[in-house]
Amino acid sequence: MSGSTSNNKNQYENIVSSIDYNSMNNNNNINNNINTNQLDTNHNNNNNNNNNNNMQQSIPSNISNTSNLSNNQIQSIPTTKGKYSLNDFHLIQTLGTGSFGRVHLVCSVHNGRYYAMKVFRKSHVVRAKQIEHTNDERKILSLCKHPFITRMWGTFQDCKSIFIIMDYIEGGELFSLLRKSKVFPNQVAKFYSAEVLLALEYLHSKNIIYRDLKPENILISRSGHIKLADFGFAKQVETTTYTLCGTPDYIAPEIIAVQPYTKAVDWWSFGILIYEMIAGTTPFYDPSPLKTYENITKCNVIYPNHFQLDVINLLQGLINKDVTYRLGNLKNGVQDIKNHRWFNEVIWENLLQGNIETPYEPNIPAGVGDASQFEKYPEERYDYGISGIHDQFGYLFPDF
Ligand SMILES: Nc1ncnc2c1ncn2[C@@H]1O[C@H](COP(=O)(O)OP(=O)(O)OP(=O)(O)O)[C@@H](O)[C@H]1O
Ligand SMILES: [Mg+2]
Repeated sequence: MSGSTSNNKNQYENIVSSIDYNSMNNNNNINNNINTNQLDTNHNNNNNNNNNNNMQQSIPSNISNTSNLSNNQIQSIPTTKGKYSLNDFHLIQTLGTGSFGRVHLVCSVHNGRYYAMKVFRKSHVVRAKQIEHTNDERKILSLCKHPFITRMWGTFQDCKSIFIIMDYIEGGELFSLLRKSKVFPNQVAKFYSAEVLLALEYLHSKNIIYRDLKPENILISRSGHIKLADFGFAKQVETTTYTLCGTPDYIAPEIIAVQPYTKAVDWWSFGILIYEMIAGTTPFYDPSPLKTYENITKCNVIYPNHFQLDVINLLQGLINKDVTYRLGNLKNGVQDIKNHRWFNEVIWENLLQGNIETPYEPNIPAGVGDASQFEKYPEERYDYGISGIHDQFGYLFPDF
């Protein structure tokens, strides 16, 4: 192994590039782009602090503390095609921060239920050239109904931000559980991977590539089942696609090589996820993302001694540089993974029905709406819901 995985999420920061590959004519360009991303990634290396600083600059006022807004700014909140508006929710606290905004715990003023509200700052999305990905996130969430995928309930926008209302998944991130546990016993890793497999199988059946599998994007429900979240990089494609995106440790070699790629990239990341759950670290980790890419390209995986032979065999199939030999991408597709001997005791139908005991149930003392499984983030003053100012970018998000 080339290093140990840090506790800091920053190592996992997404990279994304809106490179126009058609206009790209040599490898230098590619390396330049990866370099740029590397700098971005390093810049995020003190994730929480950096994110919060960014938020401070970009979100100047608080919806629940509107004292510094003029009266004509606090008008009725514009709604678009979603069935909700900001008036339907009380803002409770921040659950997570990301490149374009925050995810908040909110409570419905109508039914008292708790939801997660993902907020994107339109100007950030536009600056980062992520308009299409953001519209895709909404579209794909609206297509998905699966027990292991976070459900979206509605979307809307105001002058500055766009909002997605989703089920609130109380158990926190698999990331936090894994860092607390350091490693998962074989059976626990098997349980979570099997549920993730069913979610990926469902997405692929709809020609959706997920492209950002990692423990931060896997949430744990109150009953201990997984819920895949964050469809910011998911894309519906019939065949191949090109965009360089993902998270360094989890990214497949064909993406780094700037080749057209397929759903098989998710099976590569699935292998990395299983490896990380059992080893406690990803196989190609290096503090420098560029070195990580180099390790991925070399694809020299070292399996710690405590890895069972069965799982090594499975991972050799998944973490396979040659997509034509990669498990999940062969003639029998996902069946080859489901039938692999490491998954021998999994009864897939029962798992899908939720009829299998979960290995861990999150401790949620305060009942519904409890957020003790999430990190605490300093709250800022949010200017959500402001109207009466020019909405420069609203037309770019017509479905919200
Ligand atoms: N439905 C949800 N319920 C509970 N917590 C959530 C939910 N959705 C997101 N979160 C929390 O917010 C964090 C960030 O959300 P998400 O991964 O969707 O956005 P992001 O990482 O900011 O997106 P991007 O990677 O595009 O910047 C998650 O890792 C999780 O901790
Ligand atoms: Mg995420």
